Amino acid sequence: PKPSEVTPVIRMKSYACQRRTPLKHHNSFLTEALEILAENAEFSENEGRSVAFRRSASVLKALPHAVRTIDELKDLPCLGEHSLSVIKEILEDGTSREVESTRQSEQFQAMKALTGVFGVGVKTADRWVREGLRSPLDLVDTGQKLNHAQQAGVQYYKDLNTPVTRKEAMVISVIVEKAVKALLPEAIITLTGGFRRGKEVGHDVDFLITHPEEGAEEKLMPKIVNWLEDQGLLLYQKTTRNSYLESKDGPARPPSNMDRFERCFSIFKLEQSKIDSNAHAEASSWRAIRVDLVVSPYSQFAFATLGWTGSKLFERELRRWAGQEKGMSLSSHALYDSKKKCYLQASSEEEIFTHLGLEYIPPSERNA
Ligand code: GTP
Ligand code: MN
Ligand code: MN
Repeated sequence: PKPSEVTPVIRMKSYACQRRTPLKHHNSFLTEALEILAENAEFSENEGRSVAFRRSASVLKALPHAVRTIDELKDLPCLGEHSLSVIKEILEDGTSREVESTRQSEQFQAMKALTGVFGVGVKTADRWVREGLRSPLDLVDTGQKLNHAQQAGVQYYKDLNTPVTRKEAMVISVIVEKAVKALLPEAIITLTGGFRRGKEVGHDVDFLITHPEEGAEEKLMPKIVNWLEDQGLLLYQKTTRNSYLESKDGPARPPSNMDRFERCFSIFKLEQSKIDSNAHAEASSWRAIRVDLVVSPYSQFAFATLGWTGSKLFERELRRWAGQEKGMSLSSHALYDSKKKCYLQASSEEEIFTHLGLEYIPPSERNA
């Protein structure tokens, strides 16, 4: 055949951080199914299995067209036997029996409902399910002992499971800007997470805060929290040092900066009148919204920006690429070169991609 008639061969790189993954893609009917199986694997704490399904789904998200036959997939990376059989069944029959029976199973639905409570992880939810509990209401009815986060999670369950719109995220941004600027006028506030990647809705709103003068950001988090609390804007907050387990294969965190990096999990009380001027007086006039705040020293800002923009799979793949292909260790604080035995500095995300020998992928194409 003439060259123009040959179906173009898609050369797909195997790490998600080597690919462009837009938010809107052509294979949702397949990726949603694979992600049900990934979620179910997470519920049974089978991380390997979960990541395998997520990687398969991610490859399909990066395809420039809708998959029609299983043959189109034969040269693509990351598609394991199990994923391929699920894809094949959906292409042929419209649905996958395994996916549908998972979706309908009482176990899956109960785990979904209980892990959907803010402050409840897989381990706790699993214990409750084994005790016969199925929903947040069951927690109340049986008088389960709940920590403060979980109490807030149950109390605001409905609001916190109502997707946050971009419009609401913008209103929260204005509030956070106002709080931070009142305390430290030169501070820099960045919207991170899904909204930075262009999502129209999210489960929360994520912010990263820094200051161009190294050290000026110290002790800022408690001040922000106090300011917000004084204004009656917080329904819940828990501030912690960042205790997130970073990559296990190297010292990816400069020890001296350890306790400067703080995060705050919070629930904002958002006045609805600010976004809905037609709200009736008798209607509920506010709603609860999850907000994550992170404060980073300026020297780590690029790493923190990259680390908190996501997606989760994109982040995981970046760290895997760094470790397996480059002998480096990447975290939201730093990049460590294990061969040269030194930290690599960066003042922008672009520089980090360059250090890693990767083509720069903008946030809107990190929806792996
Ligand atoms: P939705 O909020 O569900 O819309 O999507 P999202 O992509 O914004 O997810 P989320 O808010 O859960 O996380 C945003 C980013 O922060 C992701 O890249 C996560 O990998 C990252 N992240 C979440 N928790 C932690 C943490 O404890 N430490 C670090 N370093 N990163 C985290
Ligand atoms: Mn988020
Ligand atoms: Mn978040």
